[in-house]
Amino acid sequence: MRTDIAFSYAPGKVILIGEHAVVYGATAIAMPIDMGVRVAVSRLDEHSDLAGVGPMIRGVGPFFMGDTFLHQESSGPKVLTHALGYLAQAFGEQALDMAIVVDGSLAPGRGLGSSAALSVAIIRAIYRYIQQPLSDCLLASHASALETIFHGQPSGIDHAVVINGEPIAFRRKAQTAEYRTLKLSSELKLVVGFVGPHDGTKNAVKEFAERKKRQEKAYSRIISNLDDMAADMEEALLNGRLAFVGELMNIAQGYLNALSLSTLAIEHLCALARERGALGAKLTGAGGGGAVIALCDGCETEILSAFRAAGFESFITSVSAGRHHA
Ligand code: PMV
Repeated sequence: MRTDIAFSYAPGKVILIGEHAVVYGATAIAMPIDMGVRVAVSRLDEHSDLAGVGPMIRGVGPFFMGDTFLHQESSGPKVLTHALGYLAQAFGEQALDMAIVVDGSLAPGRGLGSSAALSVAIIRAIYRYIQQPLSDCLLASHASALETIFHGQPSGIDHAVVINGEPIAFRRKAQTAEYRTLKLSSELKLVVGFVGPHDGTKNAVKEFAERKKRQEKAYSRIISNLDDMAADMEEALLNGRLAFVGELMNIAQGYLNALSLSTLAIEHLCALARERGALGAKLTGAGGGGAVIALCDGCETEILSAFRAAGFESFITSVSAGRHHA
């Protein structure tokens, strides 16, 4: 049984503390943001050349940097054709004439969890389309398979926060992961500034592993400190001690720089934000490019203007305790 068309939305995310460290078992804190990916799934026109060959994906907007039309056998971006191959395998005959249209405000390569949002939104829309129930556990297993295609060996934090739709404290275990939902005592205002695309999370994680191998002791100490700081940040978030959260973000940024994940542009935006009253500022996600987040308490418009005046595309986003998905 299928409906004519099914829709879904999944948000992007920011990591407040613990990116990369989370891959090695440290706790990280992530939050959904009010930007995301929209997906519609319907039946391919029976006269289409692709009917019976699909699924096909049509992407519009910043996520695809324009307009993209792909199917499994096309010569488009490998990760996307592999992802379509996964869907064809997972959904069998039902996928053969599926048309997936993706739209959204999240561009990839910016550390805002666009691939996790895409994975989760597609799976949710497909289950609505085929009118089958979808548990969070099944959704997580499909999203993890897709994220593995996009990212190599993801810690799972991106799709966990996207599925949960609320802030989480996340820790990876040997084969599994555990997370707690954080009930923020107040809304957070963040200014997000883009410093250009990064080189892909997969590469960032691989290069981090190589540096860690050379400097095992130094890297392990920093990862352990970031883990302790995540526990302190969790408590401060629950108690609304935002100045303390901001200070921890600044310290985390110092560590991320020490771990070779920062760039001149990232340091520049962090300094601009702090000079103009941000409670804290740091890179978010894989690093080496991507996005900077600045935690604000009334100074968000001034920081937004400063980022834009310095030539960086920026926006203000807020994180509330409410759920971010549809
Ligand atoms: O893909 P990004 O840029 O949101 O980064 C994900 C966070 C990492 O810790 C770098 C990787 C991971 O799988 O946790």
